[in-house]
Amino acid sequence: MKKACSLILFLFTINCYSQKFDSLALEPPMGWNTWNKFTCNVNEELIRQAADALVASGMKDAGYTYIVIDDCWHGQRDSLGFIQGDQKKFPSGMKALADYIHSKGLKFGIYSCAGSKTCGGHPGSRGYEYQDAIMYAKWGVDYLKYDWCNTEGLKAEGAYMTMRDALYAAKRPIVFSLCEWGDNQPWAWGANTGHLWRTTGDIYHCWDCKKDNGGWYSLGVLQILDKQDGLRKYAGPGHWNDPDMMEVGNGMTENEDRAHFSMWCMLAAPLMAGNDLSNMSEKTKAILTNKEVIAIDQDPLGIQGFKYKTIDSVEIWFKPLEKGDWAVCFLNRKNVADGIEFDWKENSVTDSLFHKEVNFKAVTYKIRNLWLKKGQGTTGKIFKTTLDAHDVVMLRLSRQ
Ligand code: GLA
Repeated sequence: MKKACSLILFLFTINCYSQKFDSLALEPPMGWNTWNKFTCNVNEELIRQAADALVASGMKDAGYTYIVIDDCWHGQRDSLGFIQGDQKKFPSGMKALADYIHSKGLKFGIYSCAGSKTCGGHPGSRGYEYQDAIMYAKWGVDYLKYDWCNTEGLKAEGAYMTMRDALYAAKRPIVFSLCEWGDNQPWAWGANTGHLWRTTGDIYHCWDCKKDNGGWYSLGVLQILDKQDGLRKYAGPGHWNDPDMMEVGNGMTENEDRAHFSMWCMLAAPLMAGNDLSNMSEKTKAILTNKEVIAIDQDPLGIQGFKYKTIDSVEIWFKPLEKGDWAVCFLNRKNVADGIEFDWKENSVTDSLFHKEVNFKAVTYKIRNLWLKKGQGTTGKIFKTTLDAHDVVMLRLSRQ
């Protein structure tokens, strides 16, 4: 009897501490991350200013919530092994910074790595997972991005489970963002472990290029987009494919930024802005805060969109939405403008994975152009439009 009770208690304890926090990230997380623009040049002033700018720019109002410090915030571990922030960069301490971010109605995110060192060479969490989770909980962290550098000998699934369990044991609900670049098919096991997982290597602010970093490559928007093929079945509320943080406002053209943003929304991707929020142009702001486009990303069904067909170099993407609505995005990959004539009635669309179907012969939809922010007739007529180079036309179809 005693043995049976101990066994039950043991299994109960394991079960209690072996899970991720449920009911977090039921929509793709939205926020801002330091890495794409500032790399290792982070400090408390920058983060406070970003939090202020997120509010002042209307981005908070549009749904952006998390302020995430990526690599290079770390100081050394103390004599007991607990991690400290870099005191020069963060003289007020991490807790004070978290408090400031929370006082703005925002949430605080931080970065670590499953390896012995982060990608930037700072102390990693290997062997310190539970201690790090305790510190994050003490500071008031709400989001952890967990990277995969310097992990020789580790198994990805197990290493990410360890941190998941450490976070759970520390008892503060924290969104867990797996950043293992898709090397070990995180989509196959990530839903039990975290709330989002990177599907590729790092993004670079170009439309269609690869950047050689000396042995490894960062990828342009189209390269990353193409790597999402086949992954939509793994995504849904609380567990998202992450095609990396955004490069909107970081040097591409306005058309490219708009197309990049639109496609991330069609993918139900996490929307982590990666630009300088304190110095952003009106055009960048207009892209990042288009609420009707954001609503496509944040749709409660949480179904990732799919490429329906390609005509010349124009891709046509569909995404099922709540209440029987659909998002449709025409993407011109080419370097020159193009035109498209799309006869809805010749294109009934079936999403066999999520059991959604649209039959334009049977049902007529109202069309709303989400960038022009106006109605454009119905699906009763052929849709004719021009597309600039590297640009999109994005529509929401609603039942009449
Ligand atoms: C890796 C990640 C990036 C960023 C850097 C930080 O490259 O994929 O997103 O976090 O590390 O060093």
